[in-house]
Amino acid sequence: MLAPLLLAAARSARMRDLVTSVPLTRGVVDRFVAGEDLGAAILAIQELTGDGLKVTLDHLGEDTTDRAQADATRDAYLELFRALSAEGLTAGADASLKLSALGQALPGDGERIALDNARAVASAAQGLGMTITLDMEDHTTVDSTLGILRELRADFPATGVAIQAMLHRTEGDLADLTGAGSRVRLVKGAYAEPESVAFQSKKDVDRAYVRALRMLMEGEGHPMVGSHDPRIIEIALDLANRNGRKPGSYEFQMLYGIRSGEQRRLAESGEDMRVYVPYGSDWYGYFMRRLAERPANLAFFLRSFVSR
Ligand code: FDA
Repeated sequence: MLAPLLLAAARSARMRDLVTSVPLTRGVVDRFVAGEDLGAAILAIQELTGDGLKVTLDHLGEDTTDRAQADATRDAYLELFRALSAEGLTAGADASLKLSALGQALPGDGERIALDNARAVASAAQGLGMTITLDMEDHTTVDSTLGILRELRADFPATGVAIQAMLHRTEGDLADLTGAGSRVRLVKGAYAEPESVAFQSKKDVDRAYVRALRMLMEGEGHPMVGSHDPRIIEIALDLANRNGRKPGSYEFQMLYGIRSGEQRRLAESGEDMRVYVPYGSDWYGYFMRRLAERPANLAFFLRSFVSR
């Protein structure tokens, strides 16, 4: 019951103003967000990579309605890459992009603006030996995102994409995404979606995830298992083994601050483990989706007020 309310709140400007104006929120946000500025992000990346983990970096922001903001997001990624390069942190690093932050929803030629901005980021990433991965947002954006992915892959073949198991269309989409060189991050899906397009129960989403994971592991691409779910991780290891895959031909991915011990355990056992590291001041939407995923997070959040 709570999750749909929190996901609706994630898109409410009034709730955003309310939640972000409370100073105490910060302490809870820090659990999921590496920091508000680049310096804090670099420190988090150094700690993670020092522990043998790989990273994908998200400069927070989404649903941009302003061209200047879309271009500023592009520039923030370019600045991030310069800092990573100066610190010797580019090897094996990936950047996660939300096309809506790069202009996808702007009226008129938003899609072209997002493509041009993503292209600039992909080009800079490729020049440093890094990759980019497109996040997937709500279901209304999937066709556009997959179209932009196709265009980017023509010039930057290592460009990856997140695919949401909860959507009914996913198995069809994956049919085109299991070939050699394809990098797909499979996730359950973090947005409130109607019954007409998405599975609603955890059981159905988990089953759909396993079907999609089987397609990816049997394919020729590079599956990225984006989940914290212990059962999914066990099944992924089993499917990799059955398909003769060795670590490095697939990878696990988890979010910053979630099951950090398990992240390190998987890396120590020889698996490729990549942590999604969000940073920046526009953390509200990301934070609310993390609250929605786990009611206990909301209780923790509310307790931080009461205990003061
Ligand atoms: P599930 O929700 O069943 O959780 C399994 C267990 O993990 C829980 O029991 C708990 O222990 C832990 N856990 C999960 N979420 C938690 C939280 N918020 N706080 C504390 N513990 C938690 N979605 C999307 O729609 N588009 C995208 O582009 C991405 N990108 C993305 C990248 C990466 C690297 C990851 C790991 C996830 C995403 N997601 C995403 C989010 C994804 O769709 C999904 O909402 C979350 O990963 C939660 O689903 P799980 O698979 O972890 O399972």
